[in-house]
Amino acid sequence: MLKGKRVVLGVCGGIAAYKTPHLVRLLKKAEAEVRVALTEAGGRFVSELSLATVSGEPVLRSMFPATNTPGVDFTGHISLGEWADALVVAPATANTMAKLAAGLCDDMLTACFITLRPNRPVLIFPAMDGQMFLSASVQRNVATLAAHGCHVFTPESGELASGLCGLGRMAEPEEIATELERTLDSISNDSPLSGLRIVVTAGPTRERIDGVRFISNYSSGKMGFAIARAAAERGATVTLISGPVHLGTPPGVERIDVESASEMNETAERVFSETNIFIGAAAVADYRPAEPVDGKVKKGASQMEIRLVQNPDILGGFGAQKSPGQLAIGFALEEADGIEHAHAKLEAKNLDLIAFNTFNGTDSGFEVDTNILTLIIRGGETVTLTKLTKEKAAGELLNAVERLVVAKEMQP
Ligand code: PMT
Repeated sequence: MLKGKRVVLGVCGGIAAYKTPHLVRLLKKAEAEVRVALTEAGGRFVSELSLATVSGEPVLRSMFPATNTPGVDFTGHISLGEWADALVVAPATANTMAKLAAGLCDDMLTACFITLRPNRPVLIFPAMDGQMFLSASVQRNVATLAAHGCHVFTPESGELASGLCGLGRMAEPEEIATELERTLDSISNDSPLSGLRIVVTAGPTRERIDGVRFISNYSSGKMGFAIARAAAERGATVTLISGPVHLGTPPGVERIDVESASEMNETAERVFSETNIFIGAAAVADYRPAEPVDGKVKKGASQMEIRLVQNPDILGGFGAQKSPGQLAIGFALEEADGIEHAHAKLEAKNLDLIAFNTFNGTDSGFEVDTNILTLIIRGGETVTLTKLTKEKAAGELLNAVERLVVAKEMQP
């Protein structure tokens, strides 16, 4: 998988930098092309000469070329990001992660990150003192980078340079090489989804009561965004219709923000005919206030009633009108014993696949980073998945969708 892949390895200033010549060797042995972008602090921990020798390439540091060198590349700070098939940052320090999260760009590593082409994976392997890693600011930057589509790996536990034992060690080079291989494998262009048009709905909807209040739910959008990202990585043309969430747009995805179920429905209906696969991951409100009020309803009587009317069923609408060449994929959020309801929804909405999940607030459903899905495929198998990160669950869902695409011989 790594053969012929162009990998930029960003090395920052941490004691684990001493392992990076070995990492370069492993990548080269797997026949990857490797260029190293070394930060100023990184250069204090590992020698430029070692990295240049093992990679067979000059080590990249400053964005400012020596103007008096013949044949100098004046736009090297842009071309590195264009060149790379993947960026691996190992070890990643708190300082460099903060720069990446903020979009700062003052050396070749940060420039490569900011100019990387869409759909090119970024793998970040932090290494630092455990308390530093768990600090609010580092965790905020980790969350920002993850929301922007980077794969940020939690450091391992063990002996640290400080003599302490705990969280903070960089993953071993062998593991980093394996993770890179796995990531590149999952985004291979051989996916049957490549070139197909996929629409994903995500997040909650808000149904206005008055000018300052609404009815909604706890959906964070994480599940739908993970699906959109994974589908784009597999080469699909992805439109993500999202309710109000606090997530960054996955690389290479067209995003349309909406607020209410009616707005989501109007937006979705506009693209129904050109959609190959519609995936409903949004938690769409089933009902909305019948008469939303302009301004703010004043506090008065001790009780008030709000009359609700039913919202359009967006996924059901797609299922009802879809042609044999289109796929409708849904989710069913049910009580733990509600799998029969999921089967009923598969039928009622004319779906090809429904992912049953439940909400326990700890490892599945709303807000959390993991999910436990049961994939019910029309007229076929039922796949019971274990607890997975939402990214991995999205990958498994798309593997099942790929099988349907192949069975139907769907073409872009
Ligand atoms: O966003 P997260 O915090 O990551 O949480 C993920 C999730 C729990 C929201 C997600 O995994 C999930 O289950 N999404 C569907 C939630 C839901 O509304 O389920 P439902 O059983 O009520 O709806 C069935 C299907 O019809 C869903 O695909 C839904 O998107 C769709 N639907 C429902 C009502 C409606 N008016 N229009 C729809 O399209």
